[in-house]
Amino acid sequence: MKRVDDFRLRFGKQELVPIMIGGMGVDISTAELALEAARLGGIGHISDAMLPTVADRRYDTDFVKTKLTQYKYNLENSDKTAIKFDLGQVAESSRLHVQNTMDAKRGSGMVFINVMEKLTMNAPKETLKVRLDEALSAGIDGVTLAAGLHLGSFAMIENHPRFRDVKLGIIVSSLRALQLFIRKNARSNRLPDYIVVEGPLAGGHLGFGMDWAQYDLRTITQEVMDYLKAEKLDIPVIPAGGIFTGSDATSFLEMGASAVQVATRFTVAKECGLPRDVQQEYFKASESDIEVNGVSPTGYPMRMLKNSPAIGSGIRPGCESYGYILDANGKCSYIDAYNREVELHPDEKKIKVFDKTCLCTHMRNFKLWTCGHYTYKLKDTSRKLEDGSYQVLSAEHVFKDYQFSTDNKVALPE
Ligand SMILES: Cc1cc2nc3c(=O)[nH]c(=O)nc-3n(C[C@H](O)[C@H](O)[C@H](O)COP(=O)(O)O)c2cc1C
Repeated sequence: MKRVDDFRLRFGKQELVPIMIGGMGVDISTAELALEAARLGGIGHISDAMLPTVADRRYDTDFVKTKLTQYKYNLENSDKTAIKFDLGQVAESSRLHVQNTMDAKRGSGMVFINVMEKLTMNAPKETLKVRLDEALSAGIDGVTLAAGLHLGSFAMIENHPRFRDVKLGIIVSSLRALQLFIRKNARSNRLPDYIVVEGPLAGGHLGFGMDWAQYDLRTITQEVMDYLKAEKLDIPVIPAGGIFTGSDATSFLEMGASAVQVATRFTVAKECGLPRDVQQEYFKASESDIEVNGVSPTGYPMRMLKNSPAIGSGIRPGCESYGYILDANGKCSYIDAYNREVELHPDEKKIKVFDKTCLCTHMRNFKLWTCGHYTYKLKDTSRKLEDGSYQVLSAEHVFKDYQFSTDNKVALPE
């Protein structure tokens, strides 16, 4: 019987264990988690979401304070269009995080960065270009383009000296999105080095509508592989979303996938950025505690635990400090939802907003508990301790379970 370790992901001459830990913002897929994947011969992702605040926490910078000081005058203003990022500071935070991570890398695997187009930061093109350029300059092994179609992203970095040697991949949820990406980026005379096909059971934002349940990862993966074969394009395909056991992963590798991208199993690893008490919420969750809803102001549906403190929270929009979702016109749908509730309840001290959430503030504070569909199975991957809590796992344990397990079994920790 085959297992994941019988397969290898090949990039030219380089061979990797075909397990990629997906990017999880904001600093849920930490450098420590990504570095473990690389040490074990696979691929780990750091995330480039909200790096100025991540840098403040990790490297003792004060980017958020500086921005807040500059825009403090606007705190009571319902119009946030004036708030802009300092591109120099965005660049410095990317450089710090990527360089520090890459300096610590050991082993034969790779560390990639997940870069989301939907982080529009009130200047979508300029801020995305800075983030991509800096990641390349600071030595990242690869960039996974996420949360968006990225139709202009290759062109943005085609003059970077590393453009043709860094690994570049795209996340798609349909063949159509892939075809569009390839067509629009053809001008750069460069194909992606890998394609992540993310199905409807993934964590984070979904590339589907609220009819996500009608789609199936295996079908989309097959469509993408058939298309690539017909076009004689030899690009590794990496399915993601709901691949929970080594046997699940093996079945995708047997159908011709080159690797798998997984995330949810690692949310309860000690190297993961989620606070310990939040990890216990993930362990405890049952199937009915998980929903896909429309509270994210990005417009994409998002899967999360129903008891996430972010849901219904009516905090003041945090754009003066953060502002990552502000679109090219300085708008975010949470601001509108919040302003509407303030107007409807002028005497209320504590506003409640249910249709949208302040994604920046709540992701930064680990109050929006996004998760994959199979989060309710996490309790079966650990042991319950005497105090009733679940044992946090090591990333190595989870990684090796994917790599070596068979028969749909999950190895419990020592
Ligand atoms: C907590 C969490 C946060 C995530 N954040 C992101 C993100 O910031 N960007 C992204 O492209 N995907 C994100 N994802 C999706 C994962 O990278 C991955 O593709 C997917 O969750 C794999 O499915 P699985 O969790 O069922 O293994 C996130 C997933 C989880 C569980």
